Amino acid sequence: MASPRDFNGRDILSILDFDREQLEYIMDVADDIEQHMDRYRGILTGKTMAILFFEPSTRTRLSFEAAMKKLGGLTLDMGEPVRASVEKGETLTDTVRVVQSYADLIVLRHPMEGAARLAAEVADIPVINGGSGAEEHPTQAMLDLYTIRRCKKHIDGLNIGILGDLRYGRTTHSLAYALSNYDVKLYLISPELLRMRREVLRHISSRVKVYELDKLDEVLPELDVLYVTRIQKERFADESEYMRVKGSYKVTLETVSRMKKDAVIMHPLPRVDEIAVEVDSTPNAIYFRQVYYGLLTRMSIISLILGALPAK
Ligand code: NCD
Repeated sequence: MASPRDFNGRDILSILDFDREQLEYIMDVADDIEQHMDRYRGILTGKTMAILFFEPSTRTRLSFEAAMKKLGGLTLDMGEPVRASVEKGETLTDTVRVVQSYADLIVLRHPMEGAARLAAEVADIPVINGGSGAEEHPTQAMLDLYTIRRCKKHIDGLNIGILGDLRYGRTTHSLAYALSNYDVKLYLISPELLRMRREVLRHISSRVKVYELDKLDEVLPELDVLYVTRIQKERFADESEYMRVKGSYKVTLETVSRMKKDAVIMHPLPRVDEIAVEVDSTPNAIYFRQVYYGLLTRMSIISLILGALPAK
């Protein structure tokens, strides 16, 4: 059984560092937070979270900030980085060394793969990876799992499609790893150029049934969950490669009409053009509820890492 001891003082660098019981525990605490918000208010009084974001963000930044403040803690946001100096890497470790004198916890987003691990090596306080280049986004995967559990009541037994940029989309890597703890079938749907990273594919294929497809059509009627992602334009080294895949898939009302009645459509957001806005008002679209579940999940994560659960 997982317990609060598993989390106290711990980093969150990769979703692979957490087993199924620990992931379930984080979700159980998120449930408890929603049901007993009063007990959690103020449990982080006197604690400070440093937010070091070297890449743009709306949800991750704001939801960590909102989560911390709802629990009574403070946030220190570094603000806009001067990219030229941070991309050398050296400055990142110096920044982390400095910031840990002001804070109890660091949330880091950085364009470099391995950045969170590097920060955790020099930091004496816990580091949460808020996105490390195209590699991973572990807390997004935790909130994605929680959203599936909330909306479908269980995760085992589901057919789950992950659509879009599986090559550069860090949310898809962390989510695929996370789902491989469950008894699910995973359908990875993307243009050839945006296929799932081989290292992720190898890992998940040894644990669950995985199918790689070019087109959504054949599996659409089977899916219980469709996780849609944006093409990560900013990560293409070659603009002409991006132009080849731009606009290659789109979820529309017609797509929804061919899905199971109770199938759900998720998206980590921001959406660009891969889901038509008309889909938003269908009962299948749950991407804005996913944002709310993200807040609960991040409240759970922060309280656990800072060892501050309320007495029962
Ligand atoms: C994602 C990210 O930053 O990786 N956004 C998020 O955190 N919700 C997805 C994206 O940018 O496409």
